[in-house]
Amino acid sequence: MARGNNRRRSMLSWAVMKDGRTLWTLNAVPKTTVYGESLRNFSGTEFRRWDPTRSKLGAALVRTRRAPELLLPEEGTTVLYLGAGHGTSISHLHDHLCGAENDLSGRLVAVDLAPRCLRELTHMAKSRPGLVPVLGDARKHAAWGVLLPRKVNWLFQDVAQAGQVDIFIAACRRFLERNGTGLLSLKAASERWTGEGEEALFTSVEQTLESSGFEVEERIELAGYEDNHVLFAVRKLE
Ligand SMILES: C[S@@+](CC[C@H](N)C(=O)[O-])C[C@H]1O[C@@H](n2cnc3c(N)ncnc32)[C@H](O)[C@@H]1O
Repeated sequence: MARGNNRRRSMLSWAVMKDGRTLWTLNAVPKTTVYGESLRNFSGTEFRRWDPTRSKLGAALVRTRRAPELLLPEEGTTVLYLGAGHGTSISHLHDHLCGAENDLSGRLVAVDLAPRCLRELTHMAKSRPGLVPVLGDARKHAAWGVLLPRKVNWLFQDVAQAGQVDIFIAACRRFLERNGTGLLSLKAASERWTGEGEEALFTSVEQTLESSGFEVEERIELAGYEDNHVLFAVRKLE
């Protein structure tokens, strides 16, 4: 499908399409849904609807004020995703990064500490080669870091637990290349914050990131899709 072949419709990547405000990804496992999302044919190719109310990455792609494709990793690369959950965002990311039968040779290392999530991710990985589910704690690099012998150019974190910012900074220091893109989904309610409200918390996090060797390229408000959440898009400077 040609990029921008319709005024409302544009391709953000070879597999991610924006149709008005609706996102779709080219289904790497045709005729199969992951979380009850709708399937639709566009010019004979099956796409899955990416629900931004179920995925912070999806919400950020809809909400960003910059070109949305800046939030996506390069297809066919290795990326790290911390806090994989049940695999909603992971599945769409896999469509983009790997494609059917991993034709693009991507690698999506997906870490979560909940055994139930891992069971679902492991099941998903059977039909989505390139997806590497890891039962592990995002803070304990020694246990799973061996899976990433080289640094990655894209790292996403959505762990929704206290200390999210420190976990993200440590993971970026260890696994993200210089100039790589880091995306931090921050849930305000998960932080032990004694300051003056959410806005002050987000500003304080932004300052912490800036003083820790990152350029904050954008702070994306997810309210409406995920209340009390923002997503920080950063570039690693050092
Ligand atoms: C909000 S959910 C993630 C949703 C997922 N990112 C998505 O968009 O589909 C947060 C996940 O982080 C996991 N988690 C929390 N603390 C973690 C940690 N220290 N290390 C790894 N995973 C963690 C939880 O088990 C949970 O599955």
